[in-house]
Amino acid sequence: MKTVSIALLGCGTVGKGVIDLLEMNGSIIEEQLNTHLHIKWVLVRDLEKYREMNLPPSITLTTDFQDIVSDPEVEIVAEVMGSADFAKGCIEQCFTCGKSVVSANKDLIADYGIPLLKLSQENDVDFQFEASVAGGIPIIRSMHSSLNSNAIETIIGIMNGTTNYILSNMTERGLSYEAALAEAQQKGYAEADPTNDVSGYDAARKIAILATLGFHSAITFRDVSVEGIEAVTQDDIVHATEMGYVIKLLAIASHDEDGISLNVHPAFIRKGHPLANVGGAYNAVFVRGNCVGDLMYYGQGAGALPTASAVVSDIMSVVLHYNLSMTGKREYVWHETHIKSPQANKAPYYLRMIVANAPGVLSSISGVFARNNISIRSLIQKDETTEIAEIVVLIDSSADGLVRESLRQIADLSCVHRVASAIRVIEV
Ligand code: NAP
Ligand code: HSE
Repeated sequence: MKTVSIALLGCGTVGKGVIDLLEMNGSIIEEQLNTHLHIKWVLVRDLEKYREMNLPPSITLTTDFQDIVSDPEVEIVAEVMGSADFAKGCIEQCFTCGKSVVSANKDLIADYGIPLLKLSQENDVDFQFEASVAGGIPIIRSMHSSLNSNAIETIIGIMNGTTNYILSNMTERGLSYEAALAEAQQKGYAEADPTNDVSGYDAARKIAILATLGFHSAITFRDVSVEGIEAVTQDDIVHATEMGYVIKLLAIASHDEDGISLNVHPAFIRKGHPLANVGGAYNAVFVRGNCVGDLMYYGQGAGALPTASAVVSDIMSVVLHYNLSMTGKREYVWHETHIKSPQANKAPYYLRMIVANAPGVLSSISGVFARNNISIRSLIQKDETTEIAEIVVLIDSSADGLVRESLRQIADLSCVHRVASAIRVIEV
């Protein structure tokens, strides 16, 4: 049986998952490929950390990337380190030395995916990155291959496990935002610095990658308008539940004749929608194609073995391509596309305001909406004291820019203490 030598760049959660998966499923994989996959090198920064890890004796740990790139036996490199710049330099060197690369690194792909794909093709090698979006869910290959007979119209993802865990546990267990985030960190879902999770930037990178493939357009995460979940409160969760909704952090990409819109933000979604039932740290991606209709992919978006499942399937795909002499042969088409201004996006909104409990307040607020031609779906006065009341308003679908301007005018009213929340309602 032929042997293919592989190097791992990184031996953290995902790297160790790859080693364990190849131990567990080595015989299933060999049977399909008629090839033995041998991990020869593993690159880390701190050798001491890995002394007790009990790695298979055939693996050599190194801190020097040149050991790997200069080894002619290594045909495939799995980049599972994270960060963008160092990883990019390593991958470029691999390509120019004729080595194919698979990567789980969404930060890198969202910024440099297209130039790296071009460089891999110029060097007749593969570049694959199934694990970069939604961990174990096979969404990259679906977008790139299985759905490529469709015009993709909409992609809606719950693609950050940390924020889904936080929102699910605020809803189901009444936890505070801070307590739920602490649990997500303790369970290992959150990044070492959870800012990119809660601020929506992790989901923005993932939707940029999917939209690039689905819409055949050169998109980076800077094209995505991003709002995180930091401002969502327990009051919003309770009101959503009472109104028949749940709050989720959604990454939404849609494409029509006017261009592409790309947004990440918390949203009210009806309890009956399949995305509303995605709980805990699970991920899901809802896709609408013009022929296939609506699809939903669901599964574990993070964790050692689910993510390794995607990394190893990429490695297997590269081996098959080597066997067929077709690495680097897949053509990609990228169109220049107009990215719509987020101001023009339209959605119904849930709004929560803290106001004076006094005559004329409701008419002042509804007057602002009327002057801006925004129609009110419902307006409820909630908790009140002798001096202060909470108003919850649902407005019909309106352009984001107009809603923001109306809220500025409402905040200026002397009877309004503050506009506490403005969350879009998603109707798909
Ligand atoms: P991790 O646990 O922090 O492990 C990172 C590994 O890379 C460590 O072994 C680290 O070595 C090594 N490393 C980092 N920078 C290095 C450098 N400059 N030189 C040499 N080695 C370096 O990270 P992870 O959770 O496995 O994530 C790896 C990648 O997969 C990231 O791109 C992440 O976004 C992506 N991903 C992760 C998950 C998940 O569930 N964790 C899911 C999907 C995608 P030292 O320990 O010696 O520093
Ligand atoms: N921090 C990420 C999440 C890990 O919470 O989904 C997977 O990319």
